[in-house]
Amino acid sequence: MKVLLIGSGGREHALAWKIAQSPLIDALYAAPGNPGIADHATLVSLNVEDHAAVIAFAKEKAIDFIVIGPEAPLVAGLADDLRAAGIATFGPSKAAAQLEGSKGFTKDLCARYDIPTGAYQRFKSAEPAKDYVRAQGAPIVIKADGLAAGKGVTVAMTEAEALAAIDDCFDGAFGAAGAEVVVEAFLDGEEASFFCLSDGKTALALATAQDHKRVGDGDTGPNTGGMGAYSPAPVMTPAMVERTMKEIIEPTISGMAKDGNPFSGVFFAGLMITAKGPELIEYNVRFGDPECQVLMMRLKSDLLPILYATATGTLDKVQAEWRDDAALTVVLASKGYPGAYDKNTPIAHIPEASEEAKVFHAGTALKDGKLVATGGRVLNVTAFGRNVTEAQARAYALADKVEWENGFCRRDIGWQAIAREKA
Ligand code: AMP
Ligand code: GLY
Repeated sequence: MKVLLIGSGGREHALAWKIAQSPLIDALYAAPGNPGIADHATLVSLNVEDHAAVIAFAKEKAIDFIVIGPEAPLVAGLADDLRAAGIATFGPSKAAAQLEGSKGFTKDLCARYDIPTGAYQRFKSAEPAKDYVRAQGAPIVIKADGLAAGKGVTVAMTEAEALAAIDDCFDGAFGAAGAEVVVEAFLDGEEASFFCLSDGKTALALATAQDHKRVGDGDTGPNTGGMGAYSPAPVMTPAMVERTMKEIIEPTISGMAKDGNPFSGVFFAGLMITAKGPELIEYNVRFGDPECQVLMMRLKSDLLPILYATATGTLDKVQAEWRDDAALTVVLASKGYPGAYDKNTPIAHIPEASEEAKVFHAGTALKDGKLVATGGRVLNVTAFGRNVTEAQARAYALADKVEWENGFCRRDIGWQAIAREKA
């Protein structure tokens, strides 16, 4: 099979690494890819916003299957255009990608199909939103409706904070994404991420993960795209997974189909495990980054036929097997992230992968033959262990061998799970 992978982050490096191991693969291309992905795929400099160019490349190389990694091309309708051109594609349609692209869309779906989530209202202007906040009181959560790179959510512990967040959204802090605002009840509990594939009819549960959104140790400081993650999430017991499938995922699949937007791709459900059980915080319509890196480390099965079955409506014919081990990833980021940071700082050395640990590239490039950091989140040092404690020790041992002066990482990824393992 000839495959084209769209994307350039750590998630796509992990997907490329796994797809390249498939006995079914004849050729793997990545657009635009990164220097780590180049170890497993031929890089192609395509502008993925130019759908006609992607289709032309696919026809020229007789590509059988395209896997879309990030959300932006999905929300832009790349999967629709590829499928219309007759190319099998992993990733939801533009209409189905609204599950991630519009928080209001997802909340309305939850309301229609009785999917447990926090009570909410949608607003198009500040004053009614503020009145609602004053009526509900704090803590309360303010969300820009659209895609805001993970930054459009304010968990307001005071009413004043909530009112300020409403002003920020309508004053354009998140651009067009903030033109509509969702105000949502605060959910108390432990968070977990649940990954599940759907071909529009059938669901295949993958695995669970927990991430660390805050930039600082002890989960302090501003939110980021994720500073580390581990899998499985201990809070997601088999009983909790079963409830999530029944109460959240299955009604979503049938509801989306009923509404004329069948969902094909991966659900990345952000859950709050409250005293009542699992409640939906949000959906993403692609693999999490860096959650994908730990999932791919744990997946025993060949990934390619699973993704292909998802895209072609035959998910009932495949299974996914997982290692019992835990996997953990530590994000190395540029100093200053998630604020301003220097670009093109040199990375002098990346240690070799071993059986149990590997460095994925997330934001790197080659400049004059030298590896440099180009992004905020730059490397994902990922390891297995019999438990999270062992995986963490291995990940930090490898991270300490990376030579990159402008990099930093959190030193406590996995702390909740490790505390549980010690107890
Ligand atoms: P989101 O971008 O929707 O995942 O929100 C970012 C983060 O805000 C989540 O990971 C949660 O930590 C927090 N959050 C979002 N919605 C709620 C809620 N209703 N109650 C409590 N925390 C929330
Ligand atoms: N790590 C969170 C995300 O991919 O959205």
